[in-house]
Amino acid sequence: MVDRKGQPVAPSTAAGALGPRGRGLFGRLLGSARPAPVARAEAFSIAVASGKGGTGKSFVSTSLAVLLHRAGRRTTLVDCDFGLAADHLLLGVKPVNSLQQLLSGKASLQQTLIDTPCGPRLLPGASGVRKLAAMTDKELLHFARELGAVASDNDVVLLDVGAGISPPVLLTMLAADVIVLVTQPEIAALVDAYAVVKCIAQLRKDARFCVLVNRVQSPGRGEQAFKKLTEVSRQHVGISLQYLGEVLDDPRVGQHRLGQLPLVFTEPDASTSRALLTVMTRLEQLVGPLARRSIDCEAGIESRFRRHRLFL
Ligand SMILES: Nc1ncnc2c1ncn2[C@@H]1O[C@H](COP(=O)(O)OP(=O)(O)OP(=O)(O)O)[C@@H](O)[C@H]1O
Ligand SMILES: [Mg+2]
Repeated sequence: MVDRKGQPVAPSTAAGALGPRGRGLFGRLLGSARPAPVARAEAFSIAVASGKGGTGKSFVSTSLAVLLHRAGRRTTLVDCDFGLAADHLLLGVKPVNSLQQLLSGKASLQQTLIDTPCGPRLLPGASGVRKLAAMTDKELLHFARELGAVASDNDVVLLDVGAGISPPVLLTMLAADVIVLVTQPEIAALVDAYAVVKCIAQLRKDARFCVLVNRVQSPGRGEQAFKKLTEVSRQHVGISLQYLGEVLDDPRVGQHRLGQLPLVFTEPDASTSRALLTVMTRLEQLVGPLARRSIDCEAGIESRFRRHRLFL
């Protein structure tokens, strides 16, 4: 860069002459003028999703939340099944406030987060609230801010995502560090799981999927189902999935009564509880420590949520 007399001018001097707005634009054009990214600590975020309803997302996310807490990680589960939340029932709590009060400004985050008897904290969702199922852009931004606040205060944040591929559901998946896809071995569940992979892959090339096959009738059936799913995903959208393991169909899970705490808490040595512990260990082997780490400010869960919102 030169001045009118042909003398070299430092980029910052030239940008400075343009005022704050011009400096911003100029600064972006000149890489050297960009401020150094600020690092901060944030929780590792895991979205538990499926496409098809009823595959066991809430069962898996509440169980993982309990296991992570037991492993000494400060863990919060966010019930992102907007409008049809149920995690509070599975964790044995009766919240006073939920996302409904939080997003309407009637309760603060601290007034909404609730400790559960099994250890992890819960940000409860609301049930039967149509407004939450169709959040406005302002509410989505508010939700993104609260997610950022929760992540800044935890080691792990679990997001129990609702079924389907509506924009808030996809956004929550896009914002997370990893997506745990809970499917069943039946074709209908696999087709919907593939639909989720396809939608996310179109929006985020570096998305990471780990697949858990739930309600398997006989050992080994989970891996067979996974192989079909990853093969189709690799062929059609160029994404390879990672296998987390299988959880057998267990009548003790299906017979869960109101007020009863999760099986991993009440019967830690049951085969299903041990299978879930293996899933947690395997997840850590695949994606690295499920723990708080230092990240660039622009790379956090809130920024990803905000950024992807513009494309949905
Ligand atoms: N491994 C299992 N064995 C037996 N029953 C199970 C198992 N996993 C989940 N279930 C049962 O399947 C039903 C659906 O589970 P859950 O509510 O966790 O699914 P979901 O994916 O969260 O559903 P939704 O899409 O409605 O949110 C529940 O009754 C649950 O107890
Ligand atoms: Mg659920």
